[in-house]
Amino acid sequence: MSPGTGAFTVAIDGPAAAGKGTIARAVAMRFSLAHLDTGLLYRAVGRRALDGVDPVDAARTLTPSDLRHPELRLDTVGAEASRVAALPEVRAALLEFQRRFARREGGAVLDGRDIGTVICPGAEVKLFVTATDAVRARRRWKELHEAGQDVTEAHVLADLRARDARDSARALAPLRPAEDALHLDTSRMSIEEAVAAATDAVAAARG
Ligand code: DC
Repeated sequence: MSPGTGAFTVAIDGPAAAGKGTIARAVAMRFSLAHLDTGLLYRAVGRRALDGVDPVDAARTLTPSDLRHPELRLDTVGAEASRVAALPEVRAALLEFQRRFARREGGAVLDGRDIGTVICPGAEVKLFVTATDAVRARRRWKELHEAGQDVTEAHVLADLRARDARDSARALAPLRPAEDALHLDTSRMSIEEAVAAATDAVAAARG
């Protein structure tokens, strides 16, 4: 396949705040691929659930403007996203959209928890991005702090661990690496190093 044509999917999975989003955006830019942050879908459902909407109804009726809501990055919304993400009907309602996005003409990068295992098991590149709990908590705390949210690092660490435990323990599409995923531990890497490692893997598969 010549670069830039046909379907070409990069699946990036891993726990919260491991660096998936940064890597996914950089890879998408570098290879001119469309990018979908699938966590945003669950966050949008979680946010509507916090407003009292039934999460399954919310997932079935998501609109583009739901995905642009300014509160999606709040940690309360992230925690609720993880709860609604355990509901099979919610996952089912979001499945087709993600699959179509993954196989779109011109190629796509999707980041999430189950992209390489469930959404796109045939993805040309699968990365499983991790970092230690302490490193992830520090990164997420900095992000939240810079966004003006008043939280302690200990609180962020506890929240990340609870979310990862829930995301890994659920029966359907739990957080786990695909068997053929390339593991990338970003604990001791700079952003540039992590992006370079991911870019090399994609370049090798793209040929
Ligand atoms: O990546 P994130 O922190 O924005 O994701 C929020 C939650 O959404 C996460 O805790 C679990 C859920 N999620 C999921 O179950 N499957 C995905 N593909 C992406 C996110």
